[in-house]
Amino acid sequence: MRTIPVKTASADYPVFVGRNLFAQIPRRVSNWSPGKIYVLTSPEIWGLWGKKFLAAFPKSQQPTVLFLPAGERHKRLTQIERLASELANAGADRSSLLIAFGGGIIGDLGGFLAAIYMRGIDYVQVPTTLLAQVDSSVGGKTGVNLAVGKNLIGSFHHPRAVFADIDVLQTLPDRELRAGLFESIKAGIIRDPALFRFMEHNAGAILARDPAALERVIVASIRMKAKVVAIDERESGLRMILNYGHTLGHAIEAATEFRALLHGEAIAWGILAALQIALARKTVAPDQAERVEQTILAYGPLPPFRATRSKLLAAAGRDKKNRAGTRRFILPKGIGNAIVVEDVTDAELNSAIDWTLARAAGRK
Ligand SMILES: NC(=O)c1ccc[n+]([C@@H]2O[C@H](COP(=O)([O-])OP(=O)(O)OC[C@H]3O[C@@H](n4cnc5c(N)ncnc54)[C@H](O)[C@@H]3O)[C@@H](O)[C@H]2O)c1
Ligand SMILES: [Zn+2]
Repeated sequence: MRTIPVKTASADYPVFVGRNLFAQIPRRVSNWSPGKIYVLTSPEIWGLWGKKFLAAFPKSQQPTVLFLPAGERHKRLTQIERLASELANAGADRSSLLIAFGGGIIGDLGGFLAAIYMRGIDYVQVPTTLLAQVDSSVGGKTGVNLAVGKNLIGSFHHPRAVFADIDVLQTLPDRELRAGLFESIKAGIIRDPALFRFMEHNAGAILARDPAALERVIVASIRMKAKVVAIDERESGLRMILNYGHTLGHAIEAATEFRALLHGEAIAWGILAALQIALARKTVAPDQAERVEQTILAYGPLPPFRATRSKLLAAAGRDKKNRAGTRRFILPKGIGNAIVVEDVTDAELNSAIDWTLARAAGRK
């Protein structure tokens, strides 16, 4: 088991990465919270892992289980109200602890529920998707969607700990695994050349879910995010680089109504699109851009999608990461380094969008 500390201005907690971690949860949790324990999960995840999860808890410490149906459309305030009522009816008080046991949706919504239930209770993340392990469970961002946009309601609320159990990934569908791995490739490109090289040369072992290979990727990705968040918890500077691939990635998700692609797949397209801008500006050398592209494709295939240039342009303009009147992009500066720019011109954006649309339609 590896332990990665996350230290920010407002929080200090461990992320555990390894195998068979469920067994450790009850003991560690009872050190932090004397009260009752509640688990938020989805019926699917509970069906696969619930028995093993419960078996880790002694009879005297059995948690109460709450369910959120799977799917982004359930990451909404109405579910927060329903679950808060269930918590209250089940006797949860300020000393209670919530365990968010699932993918990024459970983690984001569970973290937000913990942030506002009785003005804040402790919670623990037990992420079950690769994306949640390498990205969403770390950093303290919690929240839900509005009909008009994703993650528009939320707060910062860090967990007491994160338990990233590699064994739980064995049941993850291939496509979900690959989607999460694109966020790890992103982590390598923006700040960790060794992680990038490892992923470049070990796609076979990683995709075959070799535990040692997965552990290496997960540990390095979390370490990168923990370091960035330690320096800039509230995303006023450095943390923005985590959004590499996300300006156009989010636009692609919105323009395809969140149906055609998984988040990580849209980000992979966004990474390639932003790479075209970096290439044209010569912030990245052609041979390095080629390595980025080949590595993304090694974890592909990237599903095709259809959208119009005007839809993508409009969606990119609405991205909530933009500051008034500017268009923010993260551009790679070689492998392992990235910069934030706010002066991407219409012509540059149009040409990156056209390249992406042609590629996504199989014309390039
Ligand atoms: N808070 C953050 O910093 C942050 C960062 C990135 C993404 N996010 C959020 O994360 C969410 C996406 O998370 P996700 O990609 O984990 O999706 P998800 O939570 O929808 O999980 C994906 C699918 O995998 C299934 N699943 C989960 N674990 C499984 C397992 N071990 N075995 C089999 N099936 C399993 C789920 O039931 C679901 O159908 C989005 O809402 C996004 O906004 C948040
Ligand atoms: Zn992302």
